[in-house]
Amino acid sequence: MPRHKDHFYRKAKEAGYRSRASYKLLQINQKHNVIKKGDTVVDLGAAPGGWLQVAKEISGGFVLGVDIQNIAPLGGVETFRGDITDPSTIESIKGMIEKTEGADVVICDASPNLSGNWSLDHARSIDLCRSALDIATKILKPGGNFVVKVFQGDMFSDFLAAVKKHFSFVKVYGPQASRKESAEIYIIGKGLL
Ligand SMILES: C[S@@+](CC[C@H](N)C(=O)[O-])C[C@H]1O[C@@H](n2cnc3c(N)ncnc32)[C@H](O)[C@@H]1O
Repeated sequence: MPRHKDHFYRKAKEAGYRSRASYKLLQINQKHNVIKKGDTVVDLGAAPGGWLQVAKEISGGFVLGVDIQNIAPLGGVETFRGDITDPSTIESIKGMIEKTEGADVVICDASPNLSGNWSLDHARSIDLCRSALDIATKILKPGGNFVVKVFQGDMFSDFLAAVKKHFSFVKVYGPQASRKESAEIYIIGKGLL
């Protein structure tokens, strides 16, 4: 099926979601209940904002999105431009979630620019994942939840082990809305230790 006309693309368009990726977060949340009403949610690699829309709908609380690209204004959601691998970004995030005394949930759907070289793309994805995990462990409240996208490859199991050190419940999940040919998979970490 052509990329631009698949089922979830059309569904997203009809529902007013900015991205078909919205359905991945909806499916992750249906299965693993990571975001609850009232939660403060930080979304790393959030452009164009499909996950932000879903996070806001579910939580209704404070939702913050960060991306190296601009995110068009979205009602009730704060955003800023920042690189999640740059240590100054964490300070900006901390400043913005001061009032809520930290985040309840950190979600990360960040993807590197794909080169088509599987091992290079995997290594870049793992770099983004490690930055996301570092941010999550520094801004989440105890008991907080984490979702991160990983492109599979030989460094996957080491990264999964790193997530397991910080969360009491860890699962690997492939939402139905991910394309069948995609190398992506999501790690869900619940209950920051
Ligand atoms: C697949 S898109 C995210 C889609 C989003 N979840 C949605 O539903 O609209 C991946 C995003 O990761 C962002 N990204 C990649 N590297 C990044 C970095 N170092 N810091 C922040 N964002 C980054 C890209 O700019 C891109 O917007």
